[in-house]
Amino acid sequence: MKTVRDIKTLREMTRSWRQDGETIALVPTMGSLHQGHMRLVQLASEFAERVITSIYVNPAQFGPSEDFEAYPRPLDTDRRRLSRAGVDIMFAPDSEEIYPFGELQMTRVSVPGLSTILCGDRRPGHFDGVTSVVSRLFNIVQPDVAVFGQKDYQQLVIIRRMVEDLHLPIRILAGQTHREDDGLALSSRNRYLTDAQRAAAPTLYRAIGHCRKQLLAGDRNYAHLEQAGMDALQAAGFVAEYFSIRKPGDLSPPTPDSEYLVILAAARLGEARLIDNVLMEPANRARSTGT
Ligand code: PAJ
Repeated sequence: MKTVRDIKTLREMTRSWRQDGETIALVPTMGSLHQGHMRLVQLASEFAERVITSIYVNPAQFGPSEDFEAYPRPLDTDRRRLSRAGVDIMFAPDSEEIYPFGELQMTRVSVPGLSTILCGDRRPGHFDGVTSVVSRLFNIVQPDVAVFGQKDYQQLVIIRRMVEDLHLPIRILAGQTHREDDGLALSSRNRYLTDAQRAAAPTLYRAIGHCRKQLLAGDRNYAHLEQAGMDALQAAGFVAEYFSIRKPGDLSPPTPDSEYLVILAAARLGEARLIDNVLMEPANRARSTGT
């Protein structure tokens, strides 16, 4: 595996791959890789001959009081993991490479509407930072396929919208959320949890699971289910931000007969901000209800 820090070298390599007729998959990350990221890398390798993983802690997507400085950057460990997984390039640029005009003068890519609800409401500017960096990574790598985790469901919806709206010829694949045995979704930020908070953390997934069961049982009082989810999180010591039932395609509020649903929640536990979601499709329901 090659570690590449500059766009020129990356382009030379991708050009020669393309000349040989090879397809390219990109897995964008901020590093501090865990098994969830590695599953995305695995998925990427099933859909393209060459895999590039980018590692870039993107300042533009962190708010002023967020954890940009504290965000873990174990680059050597990440490099070893990616190399073992058969990744072709670890692309680890610095900010001068990504934002040559600096953060204040940079061209921004923004997906209005979708970017200011749910997490976007709590983290103003966050998704503009995400789309501003992912659009650059797409331009730099020009991948055939790019892989994102379902764990960050709103991010996935926004990226899909951006790709469609900008007519980018890139197929977006979603990797399932990888969880600990007790249900907690793997996240680089779980390390901020104390032991007691770690023990309480699976409540987030459990509360979503409970809501899912109620929906499967035919309860369509969304407002009531959302409030029950918030209450369960507060009772477990979280500071709940939102617990929301939405349509998976555009995250708009569902109607009582909506067949596809996604339950999304975000809550703070001490220093950590945890998010999770579960998709509900008719096939899931049919399986669970045995019909
Ligand atoms: P990061 O948080 O490092 O996540 C990189 C990718 O891994 C994202 O697509 C995320 O959804 C996925 N991921 C994280 N935890 C996961 C889990 N437990 N199971 C499956 N996939 C998981 O998301 C970002 O970085 C950034 O916003 C980025 C897209 C790189 C832009 O800067």
